[in-house]
Amino acid sequence: MIFSDLQLACDMLIQGKVVAIPTETVYGLAAHGYNAQAMDQIYVLKNRPRMNPLILHYKDIESAEKDVLWTPLAKQLAHAFWPGPLTLVLERSPSCRVPLLASAGLPSLALRVPSHPLVRQVLERCPMPLAAPSANLSGYLSPTHPKHVQANFSVPTLDGGPCHYGLESTIIDCRTMPRILRPGAICQKEIENVLGHSVEIGQEKGLPSAPGQLREHYAPSKPVRLNATHVESNEGLLAFGPPLSGALMTVQLSLTKDLEQAASALFEGLYQLDRSPCASIAVMAIPEEGIGRAIQDRLYRASLAGL
Ligand code: TXA
Ligand code: MG
Repeated sequence: MIFSDLQLACDMLIQGKVVAIPTETVYGLAAHGYNAQAMDQIYVLKNRPRMNPLILHYKDIESAEKDVLWTPLAKQLAHAFWPGPLTLVLERSPSCRVPLLASAGLPSLALRVPSHPLVRQVLERCPMPLAAPSANLSGYLSPTHPKHVQANFSVPTLDGGPCHYGLESTIIDCRTMPRILRPGAICQKEIENVLGHSVEIGQEKGLPSAPGQLREHYAPSKPVRLNATHVESNEGLLAFGPPLSGALMTVQLSLTKDLEQAASALFEGLYQLDRSPCASIAVMAIPEEGIGRAIQDRLYRASLAGL
């Protein structure tokens, strides 16, 4: 069911039911953030390993005040980027109301304040935060449209149209030295401009602080070949700029090589090619600058899946 009744979405969430919600990044599979049973259904529906923690979505900083131990760095980033697609990882506070299931037993919690107007209204009307991973089966493409959610599950889906960014939030560990754990909709440079210094990207060696991230594949069911300079006649092409010729089917990410446009078209493009008769998917090179880093990350993971 795809629906647009906000109050119905809130009622179901308060009762502990799972509802797919739009965010500015991708659709989320949401459940009551203070109810372990409600959250458990997310893991079951997604077939998600329980060692992969969830992101909690709050209506504002104040409502998240009690659940984590804030650092000056986290406050600075929250003030600069919330509401918006930045997820902060902080230490759970002793008074944290979020069940340990959401943290996969870790002492930390990932949280963000989303900016999509519909999810903001839902959060305004609910007395709790929402735990919400991307609304796809574990390992599959992230959903940027209600029809993508429905292709994964038959959960009630609040219709917010296509997602603005089309890529997940950037995750940054703010407990001590800032570290970007997942590149995403907010690029490294924007974060560095706010902090006034450089920020490391990637997991700290020997410290699996985002265990689930290792398992994320964002993959279609067909093989993905990167940095294509030619294309086979049985391949589907994900083009960036003037397309290579000879593909069975071509989906354009951005003819003018606009990286924001390419990000918002990425998952829809992969869904289209995955459903098409092509045997595999060839992707033209995407530059690493700005949000291109996050596009590359998702495509690289997609290319590894099934190997
Ligand atoms: O844009 C987004 O972030 C979307 C929308 C729905 O908000 N959500 C999303 O959730 O991408 P998900 O579950 O697909 O990805 C969350 C990532 C996982 O890789 C998980 O390992 C990591 O966040 N994560 C969650 N809690 C964490 C924690 N305490 N420490 C480190 N990483 C964490
Ligand atoms: Mg995901």
